[in-house]
Amino acid sequence: MTRRAAWLAPLALWATQIGCPGFGDEYATRPTVPSYAADVKPVLERWCTSCHGEPPTSGAPMSLTSYEAVVEHLERVRVRTLVQQTMPPGGGLSADDRAVLATWIAAGAPPDPESPADAGPPDQGQAPTWADIQPVLMTYGCAFDGCHAGAAPQIGLDLSSYAGFLAGGNNGPVHGDGDPDASRLIDSLYGRNGIARMPLGGAVTPAERALFEAWIQAGYPEE
Ligand code: HEC
Repeated sequence: MTRRAAWLAPLALWATQIGCPGFGDEYATRPTVPSYAADVKPVLERWCTSCHGEPPTSGAPMSLTSYEAVVEHLERVRVRTLVQQTMPPGGGLSADDRAVLATWIAAGAPPDPESPADAGPPDQGQAPTWADIQPVLMTYGCAFDGCHAGAAPQIGLDLSSYAGFLAGGNNGPVHGDGDPDASRLIDSLYGRNGIARMPLGGAVTPAERALFEAWIQAGYPEE
């Protein structure tokens, strides 16, 4: 998928779901993809560029001051800030700022459009993929050691990888064969059909739940 198509995917998803019973309200509140200049850059300036500046200081290996530099190191930025949470050193990134990074990276780290006309027509029918789902699991701590990851994941369900998701848990698959109403993963987001609501003590947003449902419905594609 091109970067531009990735950026448009949530819009296209919204466009394909609007008017479907039960989806409209949730999609109306769907958060938009953060902008690099307006949202992501200020987060990096708050937490990162004191060391990852131009030039980098304090032993930091690279600058994170430009869009190109961030995209070049995107996978490591994702791992260190969202998965391991070891950047900034010692952690401490605020939940809001982590959500900005997670949403932007999940959308494919899109560049800011040069002008609305430049964005072109939406890429209709683009379904969400594991790359959209995994950051949400990370943001809510679902796939951390001791929860649904590590040597002994809860109920045998390892959500730290696509293979783990496919394998399911002690009670079998969680994907519902592409039917959100039959998916135990979706049940857990609602806390229905005898399954405790996940994440324990919290809840994903309606828009995130709709994203999971659209993904399951599309046959839970990995890419
Ligand atoms: C206090 C200085 C400092 C701050 C602030 C800081 N870093 Fe770092 N960063 C370092 C140092 C030193 C290293 C090299 C040692 C290491 O990898 O832990 C590094 C390494 C990295 C790496 C490279 C890891 C790799 O494996 O290639 C990434 C990615 C990274 N930082 C991202 C960030 C991000 C994103 C932020 C802000 C959220 C941030 N850092 C904030 C000092 C800092």
